[in-house]
Amino acid sequence: MSTSILVGYATRYGSTQEVAEAIAETLRTAGLPVELRPLREVRSLDGYHAVVMGAPLFMFHWHKDALNFLSRQRKALSERPVAVFVLGPVHDPHDEKEWLDSRAQLDKELAQFPWFSPLALEIFGGKYDPATLQFPLKMFAGAEPASDIRNWGAIHRWAESLAPRLG
Ligand SMILES: Cc1cc2nc3c(=O)[nH]c(=O)nc-3n(C[C@H](O)[C@H](O)[C@H](O)COP(=O)(O)O)c2cc1C
Repeated sequence: MSTSILVGYATRYGSTQEVAEAIAETLRTAGLPVELRPLREVRSLDGYHAVVMGAPLFMFHWHKDALNFLSRQRKALSERPVAVFVLGPVHDPHDEKEWLDSRAQLDKELAQFPWFSPLALEIFGGKYDPATLQFPLKMFAGAEPASDIRNWGAIHRWAESLAPRLG
């Protein structure tokens, strides 16, 4: 039976979905069969021999669709290679503190899943657009300028580096 790689994502404002699309495209270009789906729609990992999952950090937590996916798929994820990407920092790409803070938030979330050991885990810069925020977030976050520090070169290189390990 032929199987494919699941590239699963969670997103609120769309930027993580765009990163997932770029990763899926890079893996396809490397000749791998890929299916791109929102994590919340995935009920079973039958038919997938490997998983790339991505989700953003919000308010010090990982997107709940990613947390629910880990809870739901514990057994299947333990039996497959899994790579994880996370969107978080949105300010200066060279502001080390923001990246360390995002990493600490993620580590705290993943500590709830001690069985989970992805073969790769990467934090990428994200996108922030105060115009898309809804009340009440707009009230206190709206003063920050819009930014998009997604590093497409780094995303592409990361996906390329995964190809031989997920194929
Ligand atoms: C209201 C709000 C809260 C956020 N909180 C965090 C946070 O606690 N930690 C972090 O690293 N990034 C945080 N971010 C940045 C998001 O992870 C980033 O904007 C990401 O690209 C959003 O992904 P999405 O477009 O797929 O929803 C926050 C963004 C917004 C808009």
